[in-house]
Amino acid sequence: MTTPLSESPFLRACRGETPDHVPVWFMRQAGRSLPEYRKLREGIAMLDSCFTTDLVVEITMQPVRRHGVDAAIFFSDIVVPLKAIGVDLDIVPGVGPVIAEPIRSRAQLAQLRDLEPDDVATILAAVTALTGELGSTPLIGFAGAPFTLASYLVEGRPSRDYRHTKALMHTDPDLWHDLMSRIAAIAGQFLRLQVQAGASAVQVFDSWAGALSLADYRTFSQPYAAAVLASVADLGVPRIHFGVGTGELLGAMGDAGADVVGVDWRIPLDEAVRRIGPDHAVQGNLDPTLLFAPPEVVEREARRVLDEGRAARGHIFNLGHGVLPETDPDALTRLVDVVHAHEPG
Ligand code: CP3
Repeated sequence: MTTPLSESPFLRACRGETPDHVPVWFMRQAGRSLPEYRKLREGIAMLDSCFTTDLVVEITMQPVRRHGVDAAIFFSDIVVPLKAIGVDLDIVPGVGPVIAEPIRSRAQLAQLRDLEPDDVATILAAVTALTGELGSTPLIGFAGAPFTLASYLVEGRPSRDYRHTKALMHTDPDLWHDLMSRIAAIAGQFLRLQVQAGASAVQVFDSWAGALSLADYRTFSQPYAAAVLASVADLGVPRIHFGVGTGELLGAMGDAGADVVGVDWRIPLDEAVRRIGPDHAVQGNLDPTLLFAPPEVVEREARRVLDEGRAARGHIFNLGHGVLPETDPDALTRLVDVVHAHEPG
């Protein structure tokens, strides 16, 4: 008998239950670490591939077939809904998102209109096709959290220090709050549409939130991450909230409303559980660079993560951030096997 989707190890762990094995998937599991991905993407720009139904379906399936992970994450990018509403942006290879006209004044806010279902029709078609193809393997939908999206929109490109973004939030808080509300509406709608098209969980990528102090996070970022999470609250799917370098923010992230908090590798999961509180499941947190170490080191460190994860109400194994493009895909497959062989408890 096959397991129904709702009883899949991933969804059970999100609900705080203890499935037969600890579920595992990897952020950026679909991507450049896979030769079959690089082949399919040859000559096709990143954003074009994100709007092409067949490519989204095939690229999303590749890591599921190859590694036997417990969840799929649909192939897209956090800037896709911004592109879909007409923001002039590109994802430049080796750089990341680049915005033609960064938003630093009230007049420039006009670039951000609401997202309509028609703007992302080819993407939603992929989500629906995927839920059919995946059967009892859950599909994770996702969106960027407003602070992380704002960091691209305000800086205009990836940044190390977020100087324009932080200057704006402290200099013109009214404009900042209006910008964040606009982004939260777009990201929230993008998530809602994905769930309505069949996604069975969502992750909000608050990736760069760790650049903020706790006080600034609470004032300038958390209410908008909370709004995005709230936009799917009535749909009954588990919600994951993830960021990098968020050790000091974990309690506040837990308060934002997610069921699961994603944790990077800088803090052990048992300590993370102490900071987040007992009501949430956790996701993480093997350092992605450890996949460049020999298999016995990966196995030892994975077991440590699994042991520390026992402190949680539910544990979803993942890396502490995305798969690095140069990672040997066989190392990922071996890691899935190590996690699946571990006694849960
Ligand atoms: O996780 C998955 O497998 C699903 C696909 C996914 C991508 N981006 C594909 C992608 C997801 C979930 C994202 C989210 C994303 N995008 C985040 C949050 C996650 C995180 O890493 O913290 C952020 C910050 C972005 C913005 C972005 N897009 C960056 C920084 C880059 C990398 C730039 C580079 O070339 O190194 C991208 C491009 C991108 N997004 C690629 C992929 C597979 C590489 C583009 C390519 O293959 O040509």
